[in-house]
Amino acid sequence: MSEKPSYDPKAFKEFEHAGWERSAANYHDLFGRLTAQTNEAILGRVDARTDVRFLDAPCGTGELAGAAAKRGARVTGLDFSATMLADARGRHPDLEFRQGDAENLPFENAAFDAVSCQFGLRHFPDPGKAIAEAFRVLAPGGRYAYTDWCPPGISTFFQIIMDAAKAPGDASAPLPEGPSVSRLSDPDESRRTLAAAGFEETEAVELPVELRCGDPRYVLDIIYKSIVRTRGLLEAQPPEAREKIEQAILEGAESHRKDGEIVLTLPALMASGRKP
Ligand SMILES: C[S@@+](CC[C@H](N)C(=O)[O-])C[C@H]1O[C@@H](n2cnc3c(N)ncnc32)[C@H](O)[C@@H]1O
Repeated sequence: MSEKPSYDPKAFKEFEHAGWERSAANYHDLFGRLTAQTNEAILGRVDARTDVRFLDAPCGTGELAGAAAKRGARVTGLDFSATMLADARGRHPDLEFRQGDAENLPFENAAFDAVSCQFGLRHFPDPGKAIAEAFRVLAPGGRYAYTDWCPPGISTFFQIIMDAAKAPGDASAPLPEGPSVSRLSDPDESRRTLAAAGFEETEAVELPVELRCGDPRYVLDIIYKSIVRTRGLLEAQPPEAREKIEQAILEGAESHRKDGEIVLTLPALMASGRKP
């Protein structure tokens, strides 16, 4: 099922592409440490094991692809960012990585036994198109799983960012427009979406993810150096508003210090299904 966007898909894709090209150098050591906490759950769910043909799209810097290869899967990683792929290839020189668009996969029908999309859907102008493409390239009986972040309220990480964005009052600029960041992390909605794409045995489970740090500035490092949409939000602010938001993020993170360590939760929803 494809969304009818209220935003410009081409402009959004270009914004995302430019952003990820800037994030590759630090992604693995910052945000990648968080996303990787879902690796084993995804690989278990898609049954990645010896000789399973496994596609990870988007693969980012290749952590999930590397973990799948350790299980003996025949791995292909796909991403549209040349810099993310260069980092992935440097870390996993023996694996196959392809540059391409997850909404228009450069593979034949039924080419894979397992497909994953780890924290990718909210970055595509049309997440439904990427799910349909995953379905197309899966062989009958093949399994698909995606993860997406749970919203503020469940996630203290996203809660402090959302609260901080209100700090400047009227001066704040909106988040760059793109697909809904909450729809696909809703358990019922995710299962409905997968069923509408043709998947059966759909399942939605919440996975724990935690950010631990000693210094709240680490949260700003993650935002400025390794992710795209929240950085876009901050960079779109007038300087004074930006300063207020940064300060509110630092204070928000600090308020989650326990026994000397800041612990932020950012659970993920993992939704999955099987191609009949
Ligand atoms: C949040 S990162 C996730 C990377 C990795 N899956 C992980 O969980 O760490 C989002 C990734 O999506 C890629 N991406 C965004 N839009 C894409 C598209 N249309 N096609 C392929 N890759 C895309 C970005 O380059 C980036 O590597």
